[in-house]
Amino acid sequence: MSILVLGASGQIGAYTVQDLIEFGGEKDVIVSSRKMANVKRAMDDLKLTERTKLMELDANNGSKVLETIRNEKVESVVNCAWYQTNLGVMDACLKGGATYTDLGGFFDTCLKQIELHNKWKDAGINATIGLGSTPGMTNVAGAAGAKRLDQVDSIDIVCAWGNTLPVQEAGWPGYSIRTVLDEFTQESVQWLGGKYAKQKILGGEADVLMPDPIGKIKAYFIKHSEPATMGKYLNAKNVTFRIGFPKTDMNTFLTLRSLGFADTNPLEVGGAKVSPLDYLTAMYQKGIAEGRSSPPKEKFEYDMFRVDCAGKKDGMPKMVTYFIVTWNDPDRGVSSARDTSVPPSIVAHWQHTKRIKEPGVFPAEATVEPEAFFKELGKRKILVDEQTTTTTKYY
Ligand SMILES: NC(=O)c1ccc[n+]([C@@H]2O[C@H](COP(=O)([O-])OP(=O)(O)OC[C@H]3O[C@@H](n4cnc5c(N)ncnc54)[C@H](OP(=O)(O)O)[C@@H]3O)[C@@H](O)[C@H]2O)c1
Repeated sequence: MSILVLGASGQIGAYTVQDLIEFGGEKDVIVSSRKMANVKRAMDDLKLTERTKLMELDANNGSKVLETIRNEKVESVVNCAWYQTNLGVMDACLKGGATYTDLGGFFDTCLKQIELHNKWKDAGINATIGLGSTPGMTNVAGAAGAKRLDQVDSIDIVCAWGNTLPVQEAGWPGYSIRTVLDEFTQESVQWLGGKYAKQKILGGEADVLMPDPIGKIKAYFIKHSEPATMGKYLNAKNVTFRIGFPKTDMNTFLTLRSLGFADTNPLEVGGAKVSPLDYLTAMYQKGIAEGRSSPPKEKFEYDMFRVDCAGKKDGMPKMVTYFIVTWNDPDRGVSSARDTSVPPSIVAHWQHTKRIKEPGVFPAEATVEPEAFFKELGKRKILVDEQTTTTTKYY
């Protein structure tokens, strides 16, 4: 009875496979992407070719995914391909009776996935969606904070990253360049006063204090799925999501946008037709593959998340804050790939071993047990700190 990983040649998917095998102890992992050469290269780089079954499989080809689930007796699917494939893969899982998890559905796709809840509930299968660093770890942190409050007024999430190199060049982003350009071209939707509120692109500028070495940083509202689900599932009045981009990265992304790299219309160049976004994606994939085969030996780059959960406990104001910090690991690769690839591995393993089994489609905050999850993260050097501020009144 196996686990199938889709999009396993990607920056995240390859490390999800590594974690499923090395930490989850999964023995029967089928590893796939659209191109055998890509997935083979990823597994060769991680020295996992002998321990996995490689397959060429397009996540958009629903009948092929279903056939694979049936023929290979797949019990759990982890979808690490681009989020546009989520709905089709879920359909195949539902028909084939496999549990499902993924890296997130941005905002709109995530809501469409949640709408499938009753069908999955009736079929008796669990889908827990949006597992990565954020969405993913931050949703679980929000759930942990909400558990410690009687009333949740706000959950404010901030994501930031950076490096300590003396030359501050912008590197490849830690997540799909396609998603980055979505974030820079689409208005965000936040959960404010108990309802969805559209915000302008890069609106909501705020100064946020992150752990060292970041310190104070400017952060902006970004379209993401956390506000799509957490307000409703955690009964919070406000849920916001911001990114504090390092200055160099922010300038790079703004420049790519203004040069037209978000354009999906094909352009004819030297007889070939390719869209600027697809061209940029291909360059990105090449860069990621090169980085994987020669991981940096020094600890120099980090990912950081801050989740502030504010509300009341026993009638008094209380704030629970989570700081989640990951540094790159000389053995296990870059920080952003590690902290995004581990959560879907933990959840897929828990689904496979029936630790998560509630039938239906749920976001991470609804099914993942926070403290046990944080301990699993800690084993992989993804560090979660919880800080609490309580109020005592002497009048
Ligand atoms: N929740 C989070 O914290 C978080 C963080 C980062 C990224 N993400 C999301 O995760 C997704 C993947 O991100 P990434 O950074 O790993 O991107 P990536 O490096 O571009 O990898 C995606 C991989 O999926 C494969 N793929 C694309 N379309 C496919 C299809 N139809 N069928 C099968 N495989 C397909 C591609 O490989 P082939 O060309 O070999 O098929 C590619 O290597 C994105 O949607 C991103 O937004 C979420």
